[in-house]
Amino acid sequence: MLVSAKEMLNKAKAGKYAVGQFNINNLEWTKAILLTAEELKSPVILGVSEGAGKYMCGYKTVVGMVNGMLESLKITVPVALHLDHGSYDGALACIEAGFSSVMFDGSHYPIEENVAKTTELIRIAGEKGISVEAEVGAIGGEEDGVIGGGEVADPEECKRIADLGVTMLAAGIGNIHGKYPANWAGLNFDVLAKIQELTGEMPLVLHGGTGIPADMIKRAISLGVSKINVNTECQLAFADATRKYIEAGKDLEGKGFDPRKLLAPGFEAIKATVKEKMELFGSVGKA
Ligand code: 13P
Repeated sequence: MLVSAKEMLNKAKAGKYAVGQFNINNLEWTKAILLTAEELKSPVILGVSEGAGKYMCGYKTVVGMVNGMLESLKITVPVALHLDHGSYDGALACIEAGFSSVMFDGSHYPIEENVAKTTELIRIAGEKGISVEAEVGAIGGEEDGVIGGGEVADPEECKRIADLGVTMLAAGIGNIHGKYPANWAGLNFDVLAKIQELTGEMPLVLHGGTGIPADMIKRAISLGVSKINVNTECQLAFADATRKYIEAGKDLEGKGFDPRKLLAPGFEAIKATVKEKMELFGSVGKA
């Protein structure tokens, strides 16, 4: 059964580790992440962007697929199904469809509007025990065609949003989605420390997990980050393994064109990436 992200993230914050949010795109992605979490006895959050939701034929299809897998794969670790960077209407649709967690990304609205919309969603989600992630300070890079400016959040605004009763809070601290440019300045730990000081027990979320060096990840966790989002890295690993399979001509050998064979190396590559991240984040054995 899907669970809200609240308990797993509160435990992570108290235990000084982070739970990974891995974005899903299709059946192979979902199965690879769930099996890895189960093998490593790690809690996990499946992230679904609005674009990925549309690609997978809508939120109800996603809920059906994930719930079916939890049962048929006999998954016992805590799993949250979470809308990533949702709009207000997208969050309502996911709550209705059976997601256990939603993110409302109001970071591009003026703070008053972000506060008003976040407050309303907390009320609606709260009635169903669904966790809510809010965002302050747009996270840079491009995700699903939405380009953010890579702001650094204002800690006072973070406190204001945190005090509304959100479950977890994403704050821009110089992180960006996708690959980091060679001249990237790194995470702003001074701002992260200030946000943590003002928001106390609130689990903080680090987006753009792809390509952040291990030492920065560890430092971010020590400063209150309890959820780390990873998307691009699984995509790169999947594409790389699939390319190698085809370049080696394996799809032309025997029944190598069978999708169950063709997609197997990419599936294994996602598993390996998720395992590496769970080990780095410290969530192994925490389920
Ligand atoms: P990356 O694609 O950079 O890993 O970012 C993922 C993310 O933050 C999803 O919200």
